[in-house]
Amino acid sequence: MTDKRLLGYLQRILNARVYDVAIESPLERANKLSARLGNQVWLKREDTQPVHSFKLRGAYNKMSRLSSAELARGVVCASAGNHAQGVALSARQLGCQAVVVMPVTTPKLKSDAVRDLGAQIVLHGDSYSDAYSHALELEQQHGYVFVHPFDDPDVIAGQGTIGMEILRQHQHPIHAVFVAIGGGGLISGVAAYIKAVRPEIKVIGVQMGDSDAMIQSIDAGSVVPLHDVGLFSDGTAVKVVGTETFRLTRELVDGFVSVDTDAVCAAIKDAFEDTRSILEPAGAMGIAGMKQYIAQHGLQGERLVAITCGANMNFDRLRFVAERAEAGEEREALLAVTIPEQRGSFKRLCQTIGQRNVTEFSYRISDEREAHVLVGLAISSRGELPEIQQSLATEGFAALDLKDDELAKEHLRYMVGGRSRLVGNERLYRFEFPERPGALVRFLSSMHPSWNISLFHYRNQGADYGRILVGIQVPDEELQAFADFIDTLGYRYADETANPVYHLFLR
Ligand SMILES: Cc1ncc(COP(=O)(O)O)c(C=O)c1O
Repeated sequence: MTDKRLLGYLQRILNARVYDVAIESPLERANKLSARLGNQVWLKREDTQPVHSFKLRGAYNKMSRLSSAELARGVVCASAGNHAQGVALSARQLGCQAVVVMPVTTPKLKSDAVRDLGAQIVLHGDSYSDAYSHALELEQQHGYVFVHPFDDPDVIAGQGTIGMEILRQHQHPIHAVFVAIGGGGLISGVAAYIKAVRPEIKVIGVQMGDSDAMIQSIDAGSVVPLHDVGLFSDGTAVKVVGTETFRLTRELVDGFVSVDTDAVCAAIKDAFEDTRSILEPAGAMGIAGMKQYIAQHGLQGERLVAITCGANMNFDRLRFVAERAEAGEEREALLAVTIPEQRGSFKRLCQTIGQRNVTEFSYRISDEREAHVLVGLAISSRGELPEIQQSLATEGFAALDLKDDELAKEHLRYMVGGRSRLVGNERLYRFEFPERPGALVRFLSSMHPSWNISLFHYRNQGADYGRILVGIQVPDEELQAFADFIDTLGYRYADETANPVYHLFLR
């Protein structure tokens, strides 16, 4: 890039008008993350902006430069969330009308937030691209001014004020700044400022592996449109990057990292542990990318900045995020363990697991010779896994690692069960026990060996009580002895053998 063009962006950023609506967000040291990663980690807290993302900077800088005649015509934009809120807030500040085209699939939470800011919402099409085409039609029909979410020098300059603030807020050396990429407006602005002022600082772009239009375009040397994008990180789910953002990214950005869903969930948890804030997936991508970059380059003792760029998270996604964070952090191993279908092998499996914390245990009898058990175990690092597999193998139990198996993680773990033709004399019980380390193994060990366990389901939910479902085969003549036995266990339980759901789905 010529010095003249870079200087042009520097001037635009220095002159950008953002502080009528945006705050200078804090640059905070993440103490826990720093200690864990052996580097000094700072977070640029754009999630603390009034609309919980940086997007209002670019939108306001663009819109505040419109003439009064243009403002009188009103503005239109297409967005599935954060840009829409930036445009709506800016329109309210500038006293102009805003029309926001959103895909019909937009969560109500996001469309409500935009409506509450006074914008008119048009729901159109299934994807951002459909909404975008319709917004361009409305621009033509009604003479509105179109406010692009990323491919506009004024939008880029508005986002660039984040780079300006980081360098002002942190005057010590910085090794690298990590930035999520969707269409590329944020990274273009940040990189333009940093390369003009302190070019020795690396700017690293982060994309989702299933939404990596910028990385693919850089590799190809020209803008590559994607057919499909993953939607987990909806803030960065862009099929076609901008022309200007592609040019700036190609010339100014030092490197790229691609991350997956589990890593982003783990990064949401990392941010929560240091800040008590919940980031949206796009908002945590900088942290996820930084962690990966540290591991790839063996960084130690460096100063690193990740931009936490958004927190518009739907509450109903938290369950998924919490579940995947464990795998992303490599604190949970998920294994399919095969054991012989014989009395005592269940117990031997438990003894081999030892005092490890069991996070999940699912089994349904299905074969006379072998039993396949889905086992989740708490681990402190992936390094422990070979040791666990080895001790299982010594007992003759084969264990398949399911860490990267989407089928297992997303579906199968909820489906283990079903009917079996081998369930004669089966009785079904729900038990509750206080959730303490080792409690499940203790429970399993207390099961009397003379009755066969034909079904077992347990998932640690982080609640105060562990809830498990057990199917046990007890001949009729031993029912009294069995009733006496479960009373001596001392756990709260309910007999579900007559429950119609059991007969509909399991019997
Ligand atoms: C939270 C969040 N992060 C990152 C991005 C990506 O920004 P850009 O499209 O400028 O690359 C967006 C875009 O809307 C976003 O909302």
